[in-house]
Amino acid sequence: MSESKSRRQFIAGALHGTAVLGVAAGAAILGAGNTYKAAGPIQKGTEVNPRLFTFVGGKVGAWSIVQVKAVVGDPLPVAERLDVVHGAVPAAPDGAKWVLRGVTSNVRYITRAEQDLLAAKEVDLGQPEATRAALIPIKKNAAWWALPQDKRRRIFEESSCHIKTGLEYLPAIARRLHHCRDLGEAEPFDFLTWFDYAPEHAQAFEELVAELRATEEWKFVGREIDMRLAR
Ligand code: HEM
Repeated sequence: MSESKSRRQFIAGALHGTAVLGVAAGAAILGAGNTYKAAGPIQKGTEVNPRLFTFVGGKVGAWSIVQVKAVVGDPLPVAERLDVVHGAVPAAPDGAKWVLRGVTSNVRYITRAEQDLLAAKEVDLGQPEATRAALIPIKKNAAWWALPQDKRRRIFEESSCHIKTGLEYLPAIARRLHHCRDLGEAEPFDFLTWFDYAPEHAQAFEELVAELRATEEWKFVGREIDMRLAR
């Protein structure tokens, strides 16, 4: 998955003289209508993680939030705009309603053949015509995480055809998957899924989402927020 070069790099260490991974101790991370405190002290000596992205729902940002639906589970507080920050946000900015963060990571389930097919069709985020976007934070349930890797792969692909279905929508849809689960216990979601596309592909995106939600994989989704954005 490629990273958009146009995203603003937020170097917390350089700006604040402190190396921070994630959110500084005591800063509020908002989600699910609750306030989460970042667990533990600032990790000194940990430079900015280039795989970290922070999504800030508030009053500023390039993206206007045009529609939000809590598909499963608790909603997020209502925000007008979304700021997608490449890096850490050390404290919730003024007017922020929620701050979600995740890191890009290695793939878990795909085969080499699938990887090659994806590489041949995928496009970078941030193309000039991609003026629509979707942010879909997802939490899977304990039953999913209790499964061994081979069973999760079987559900993800052999049963649910996640990659096979997704491939049909490339290159119209660009995407980046962020993992949150290993950032700490306070993270309200396991994944932040982020997509952008041109307005003429908005309907196709809705069809893709509906197809995925009808699969066995989605029986393991315990919380899902569906956001549509425009810039
Ligand atoms: C645009 C077409 C799409 C393609 C090509 C695609 C492909 C993929 C791939 C390759 C992975 C990583 C598999 C691995 O770790 O080996 C993945 C994971 C994931 N995708 Fe998609 N996807 C697409 C659309 C979507 C949509 C629309 C959603 C949400 C509605 C979504 C939600 C997720 C989630 C939550 C994961 C993490 C699953 C897990 O690790 O349990 N994807 N996807």
